[in-house]
Amino acid sequence: MESVDETKPAGTFEEAVRRSDAIRADLPQNPGRYRVLTGDRPTGPLHVGHYFGSLKNRVDLQALGVETFVVIADYQVLTDRDSVDAIADNVRGLVLDYLAVGLDPDQHKTNIFCHSHVPALNQLLVPFLTLVGMGELERNPTVKEEISAAGLTHVNAAMYTYPVHQAADILFCKGNVVPVGRDQLPHLELTRKIARRFNTRFCKKGPSVFREPDALLSAGTKILGLDGSQKMSKSRGNAIMLRATPDETAKLVKQAKTDAERQITYDPEGRPEVANLLLLIGLCTGEAPLAIAERLGDGCGGALKKALTEALNETLRPIRERRAKLEADSDAIVKRVLTQGSAAANQIGDVTLREMRRAMNMDYGL
Ligand code: TRP
Repeated sequence: MESVDETKPAGTFEEAVRRSDAIRADLPQNPGRYRVLTGDRPTGPLHVGHYFGSLKNRVDLQALGVETFVVIADYQVLTDRDSVDAIADNVRGLVLDYLAVGLDPDQHKTNIFCHSHVPALNQLLVPFLTLVGMGELERNPTVKEEISAAGLTHVNAAMYTYPVHQAADILFCKGNVVPVGRDQLPHLELTRKIARRFNTRFCKKGPSVFREPDALLSAGTKILGLDGSQKMSKSRGNAIMLRATPDETAKLVKQAKTDAERQITYDPEGRPEVANLLLLIGLCTGEAPLAIAERLGDGCGGALKKALTEALNETLRPIRERRAKLEADSDAIVKRVLTQGSAAANQIGDVTLREMRRAMNMDYGL
C-alpha cells in the first residue's frame, strides 16, 4: 500500500475521551451541529443491558433534537453465522423494540434502515477497502476477540472487513457522532483513518468529502447478566428481554446468582453478583446502589430480588405496553418505518456516492 500522509498523530484513548466530553457538553446547546449514526446487528430481541447501555441514550439524543440514523446491520450478521432463517423476524422484532423504547421516526429525526436496502452505503465499501492494509484488519483487537468468543473455526473475509463496512455505515450519511462503548473505539479510530485517508488521497484538488466522526462514550458502567460474572447477553442466557412478561421477569430474577450473606452490601469487588443486582435496581429507580443496599439491610437475597423484580417491571411497563399496542398492526408499522428510513438513507447516500465518484475522477460527466 502506498504510504498515506497521516497529518495527525494516531488517536489515543485520552483524546477520544476528551472529544467525547466536549460533545456531550455542547449537544444540548447545538443539537443541529451533530448527526448521530448508531446501529445493532439483528441477532435477537433487545434486553435490559441494551436498554441501559445504549437505547436510553439514543432516546435522550433524540429528545435533544439531534438527527439520528440507526442502521440495522443485516449484512453484518453474515460474518459469524451461516443461516439467514431468523433475519427477517429479528429485523421486525428490532424495529418494534426501537419504537417501544421511544425511538420515533415520525415526530423526530430518527431514521431506521437496513444495510441491504441502501445500495450506496455498500458501494462505499469498495474504495474504502483500498485505504486499509491487511495487517490493520488482522490486528483489530475487537475482531480478534469476537472470533475467539464465537469459537469460529472458519473465519470468513467479511469478519475481517466488517469494521470497514462500519466505516461506510458512519460515513455514507456523514455522521459525526457515534455513541459507543470502549470496545468499539478501535473501529471508530479506523473510520477516522479512512475518512482522513480518502480526503488526503482523492481530494487534493477539491473539497474534502468526509469529516472524521467522534465517539460519544457511554458512562462505562458494565451491566452484567443475572449470573453476575459476564456481560448481559442473549447467547449467555443471562439476560432479561425488554419484551419478557412481568412473570417471566420475576422467574428470571429468582434464578439470579447471589451469595449466602444475609446483609446486603454494595461491594463490586468482593460481591460482584449482589452489586450487579443493586446496580440494575439503581438504573431503574435512579438511586445510588449504596443507598439501596442500606435500605434493604439484612433482608438477604429474597428482598434484593423482590426489589429488582419490582423495579424492572415498573421501568419496563410503559415499554411493554407500547410494544403490545404496536404488535396489533406490526407488519404495516415495520414496513412503514423501514420504507421511510431507507428513503432518507438512500437520499443522503446517493449524494455522498456522487461526491465520492467526483473526487475519484469517476463521474465521467454522467
Ligand atoms: N457492530 C455493531 C454491533 O455489533 C453494530 C453496528 C453496525 C454499528 N454498524 C455500526 C455500531 C456503526 C455503530 C456504528 O452491535
